[in-house]
Amino acid sequence: MDLKQYIAIVPDYPKEGIVFKDITPLMNDGAAYKAATDRIVEFAKEKQIDLVVGPEARGFIIGCPVSYALGVGFAPVRKEGKLPREVIKVDYGKEYGKDVLTIHKDAIRPGQRVLITDDLLATGGTIEATIKLVEELGGIVAGIAFLVELSYLDGRKVIGDYDVLTLMTY
Ligand code: PRP
Ligand code: ADE
Repeated sequence: MDLKQYIAIVPDYPKEGIVFKDITPLMNDGAAYKAATDRIVEFAKEKQIDLVVGPEARGFIIGCPVSYALGVGFAPVRKEGKLPREVIKVDYGKEYGKDVLTIHKDAIRPGQRVLITDDLLATGGTIEATIKLVEELGGIVAGIAFLVELSYLDGRKVIGDYDVLTLMTY
C-alpha cells in the first residue's frame, strides 16, 4: 500500500515556512493505519522488545497499537507538568520550538529492551531527548520507528547508530 497518499501536506503550519506533514488522514483510514502499524510490528518482532515508549502526543498514536500487538506495555513521554509522579526531564528543541520532555522514574526497569515510536522525524530533537530519558533510566534502545522522515532536516545524524525504521521519506 502506498501510504504517502494518506499524508496531507499543509504549508505554513504551525508557523510560516514550515511544511507540515499531517498523519491524521492515515489514522482515519482503518486499512492504512493497520498497514502502517503492521510494518512497525514486523520490525519490532525480531528485537525482543519489552516495552514501547513514545513522546506526546503523536508518538502515542503510533506506539499504543504496536505495544498492543506485541503484548508489551507502553510508557508515555510527556511535556512538563503532565505526569503526576516523580519524573526525570530533559530540555530539547524541535523544528518549530523548544520544550521539556519528562518520563516517570519507574516507567522503565534497567535492562529492558525498548522500542521508541513517533509519527515523524524532523530535526531529531524530540527523539534525541526521548533516547536520553530511556537510557538515563537504564533502558536499552533496541529500535526506533517513525511513519515519516523529513530527510532534508538531517534528523538521522542526531540519532546516530540506532536501528531506525521509517515508512515514508520526504
Ligand atoms: C512533533 C512530532 C515529533 C516532533 C518531530 O511533535 O510529532 O514528535 O514534532 O520534530 P523534531 O524531529 O524536530 O523534534 P510535537 O512536539 O509538535 O507534539 P505533538 O505530537 O503533541 O503535536
Ligand atoms: N514535527 C516537526 N516538524 C513537523 C512537520 N514538518 N510536520 C509534522 N510534524 C512535525
